[in-house]
Amino acid sequence: MIQILPSLLAADYARLGDEIRRVAASGADALHLDIMDAHFVPNLSFGPDIVKLSGREAPALYRHVHLMLSRPDRYIDRFVDAGAQTVQIHVEADCDIWEALKAIRARGVRTGLVLRPQTAAKAVFPYLPYCDEVLFMTVNPGYGGQSFMPEVLPKIAELRRHVGPDSPLDIMVDGGINFETGMRCAAAGANQFVAGSFLFKQSEMGEAVARMREGCGKAYGTELGAY
Ligand code: DX5
Ligand code: ZN
Repeated sequence: MIQILPSLLAADYARLGDEIRRVAASGADALHLDIMDAHFVPNLSFGPDIVKLSGREAPALYRHVHLMLSRPDRYIDRFVDAGAQTVQIHVEADCDIWEALKAIRARGVRTGLVLRPQTAAKAVFPYLPYCDEVLFMTVNPGYGGQSFMPEVLPKIAELRRHVGPDSPLDIMVDGGINFETGMRCAAAGANQFVAGSFLFKQSEMGEAVARMREGCGKAYGTELGAY
């Protein structure tokens, strides 16, 4: 299933409640919330209070949390308590990845593993039985508004070929995603698309979400053999 997830990092923080409701009204599939610790990545963003706020402003909007933390295992409970419905951790994090994924599952929420652009796709293969989704970063994590890195495309195709086109595993991309780069990732086998600056700068977010969903749906898997 093709899903579009606006990233709150690109919102106007002076009007956060309005921005969260704008995402809900756009028909997007989930709100992507980027949590940064200024250690795993060279930036700070926000914490569980903003996850909680998004649940208050738009209770029906799915909350998808991307932890860019060196020790995500220490914060799982806090984010689930705040209302996270998917918790993603980086495979490069400084903790026991099995134990962290098991702890997320034990809380009854979906698990995701994230790879930096430089990390080989194979790094996540051993953990797939514990993953609901795998996120390929298509920029270096830490900041919104960066340029898409096309060298990640072969890794997307490698994982999609490994699990098969009808696998329940969701393959997601995040960083520099717009209509064009989203469709290239879809062609390589991605089915979930995080977009921050591109969607928030639209005057009609709903139209852009619908157009992206349709374009990515048509492109899905068409270049799986090309990489
Ligand atoms: C970057 C974050 C992204 C970010 C994407 O580290 O993980 O989710 O918000 O922003 P854009 O879409 O502007 O590249
Ligand atoms: Zn993210």
